[in-house]
Amino acid sequence: MSDIDDLLPGAPPLPRADRFNGGASPNAIANGHSENFFEFRGVNKGFDDRLVLHDVSFVVKRGQTCVIMGRSGVGKSVTLKLLMGFLKPDSGRIFIDGEDVTNFTEAQFEKIRLKVTMVFQSGALFDSLTVRENIAFPLEQQPGLGAADIDAYVEKYAHSLEVDHVLDKLPGELSTGLRRAVAIARALAQSPEAILYDEPTTMVDPIMADHTGNLILRLKEALHRTSIVVTHDTHLAKKLADKIVFLQEGKATVFESWADFENSTDPFLHNFRMQDELIPALDVTL
Ligand SMILES: Nc1ncnc2c1ncn2[C@@H]1O[C@H](COP(=O)(O)OP(=O)(O)OP(=O)(O)O)[C@@H](O)[C@H]1O
Ligand SMILES: [Mg+2]
Repeated sequence: MSDIDDLLPGAPPLPRADRFNGGASPNAIANGHSENFFEFRGVNKGFDDRLVLHDVSFVVKRGQTCVIMGRSGVGKSVTLKLLMGFLKPDSGRIFIDGEDVTNFTEAQFEKIRLKVTMVFQSGALFDSLTVRENIAFPLEQQPGLGAADIDAYVEKYAHSLEVDHVLDKLPGELSTGLRRAVAIARALAQSPEAILYDEPTTMVDPIMADHTGNLILRLKEALHRTSIVVTHDTHLAKKLADKIVFLQEGKATVFESWADFENSTDPFLHNFRMQDELIPALDVTL
């Protein structure tokens, strides 16, 4: 996987995450790249009379992987949709790569979505296109890539995500786990600066969940892309998290490491962790 950076056509050289962990990076800022890639500042969001997110603030630094956890219905997917511009906050500010996107228009968000891509819970693949055509789709939007280049990139992405054996199948013929791996391959084909994953390990058996978690971990280690992973799977969170945002009753609690999260004495968090510990961690990779 060490050569995966070579797979990203047109992508600027990637800053390594550890460059940014020790404080300000003047070069990155001078180049127009903000050290804080995502920021929620006092965000409120409700539907009808119900406030879902209440004064939520957190920062994800460039190159970090932030895991958002919390029980069903707390607003995890809403948080991702706010970042993608599919929903607007009622108040507060949202920053992406140093830009205040709170009042961005749809046209402005289309540009943001070129650098921030989301892997949906369902995979959201084009059902009438083969896996090969799905992965090729974002590559075809990039100028300067010929058909042979596109084919080569598709093969490499498919190989990285271990879906090369299903390239000529339709998404409907695949299991949920494989569809998700294809969705990740397609997301990478866009050369994004950041990837948002919504529940990448739900609705599959524990072995497939572990396998998908390991694929995402390998991508994290090879690419250092800024990432947000929404999950209630504590095994996955432990594997991936540089920081944790825990949502509960509209409030966000931020932990700067897995150890901080694990050592928290909040009884609600303790119960949340215990629940997943009932499902044994799998140390196997298929
Ligand atoms: N477009 C919408 N219109 C109305 N209510 C919505 C909308 N989107 C989300 N909600 C509500 O906001 C709350 C949070 O939803 P969200 O999908 O973010 O939950 P979640 O934390 O992702 O849960 P899960 O773990 O089940 O996916 C829910 O009560 C949901 O019904
Ligand atoms: Mg959700």
